[in-house]
Amino acid sequence: MISEGENIKVSVRNLSMIFGDRPREALRHLEEGLTKDEIFEGTGQIVGVYNASFDVAEGEIFVLMGLSGSGKSTLLRCINRLFEPSAGEVAIDGENVLEMTPQRLREVRRTKLGMVFQNFALLPHRTIIENVAYGLEVRGVPKGERLAKAAEVLRLVGLEGHEESFPPQLSGGMQQRVGLARGLASDPDILLMDEAFSALDPLIRREMQDELLDLQDKVNKTIIFVSHDLDEALHIGDRIALMKDGAIIQIGTGEEILTSPADEYVAKFVAGVNMAKVLTAEGVMKRADPVIFADSTPEAALKRMRKRKKSFAFVTSRKEEFLGIIREEEARGAAEIGERIEDVLVLDAPAVSPETPVTELISLVAGSPHPLPVVNDHKILVGMINHVALLDALTPGVAENGVA
Ligand SMILES: Nc1ncnc2c1ncn2[C@@H]1O[C@H](COP(=O)(O)OP(=O)(O)OP(=O)(O)O)[C@@H](O)[C@H]1O
Ligand SMILES: [Mg+2]
Repeated sequence: MISEGENIKVSVRNLSMIFGDRPREALRHLEEGLTKDEIFEGTGQIVGVYNASFDVAEGEIFVLMGLSGSGKSTLLRCINRLFEPSAGEVAIDGENVLEMTPQRLREVRRTKLGMVFQNFALLPHRTIIENVAYGLEVRGVPKGERLAKAAEVLRLVGLEGHEESFPPQLSGGMQQRVGLARGLASDPDILLMDEAFSALDPLIRREMQDELLDLQDKVNKTIIFVSHDLDEALHIGDRIALMKDGAIIQIGTGEEILTSPADEYVAKFVAGVNMAKVLTAEGVMKRADPVIFADSTPEAALKRMRKRKKSFAFVTSRKEEFLGIIREEEARGAAEIGERIEDVLVLDAPAVSPETPVTELISLVAGSPHPLPVVNDHKILVGMINHVALLDALTPGVAENGVA
């Protein structure tokens, strides 16, 4: 869910796109519950997208994922009206795209939208910098200005020094970066990326994904990214929409989709994913318990431990900053001789950040006599990782539904 106060950049409501001359008829059949295949057999109409709705917040990377033919590209192209939707609404910054005049639509595409495709054609006889500046040139941006902008975005994508090269001199990965730079050259708020990295070999692809994430930290675009690759979607997507036969069947974070798939189809789709690889401490942690404040007494700490049937407690400040762990033996000793909690605190108790991958947690938890505190950048104790949390994460079906 997009939380309150976030700025919605792109909003799609009940969007449908039928290829064929009788879209109304096809839409009626869809409402009656006929499938995409049945409609094609009966009427020859092709369902591209059916009844898609979602919002994308400013700065978000939203991934459209699904098998070939599920409607990802069609949906993306409806957003900038390269395809004219058969029904529904699209808004960019709250402005209805489908009601824009041709002139306004051109302006919005020029100023707010950038597109990056898999098979973009670089102009072979122009230098890299000229290729990147090409879109600006077409729009009549003066030469000095467009070359300065092109140089800037080439730096952003790590191609500094290659300005005067020609496309055939660049590797596939570098060429794809040129495509990305070209998409960024007009400084769009919103980037629409269709399988932008799919042609790259796996290692370079991963590198490009990381670079996109880095870039996103710097420029904070809103990105709608089409991919048929689940690993890619999980790696870069803040949220993922999974499509099937033109319809969106689940929207959620990668974790939500992995741990509570909406139906059998999604469950099958994600079944091959190595859960441990994608889950982080934040996704598997439990509420920290027991917790006591540093200014309470050892007696109070012991009482709390007894009540919770634990032999340790997390100790925090009144502001919930993590200070350390107190163990039962020490608390008892301190109580006997009138020491304070801070005198017997284990200060160097290992803590992990919310982003720590589960793969790293496994050995840490195994080697720790008590649960691992999860502490965020502001030193706040946000949760704990124990054996149960890890088991739940690694076997979600068993833990949550009692079925494997
Ligand atoms: N121009 C078109 N004319 C007719 N049918 C089309 C057209 N473009 C797409 N379709 C159909 O719409 C459906 C969705 O296609 P789309 O290209 O959006 O899928 P996709 O999810 O992007 O697939 P891929 O992963 O192969 O790119 C498919 O059944 C496709 O055959
Ligand atoms: Mg496609």
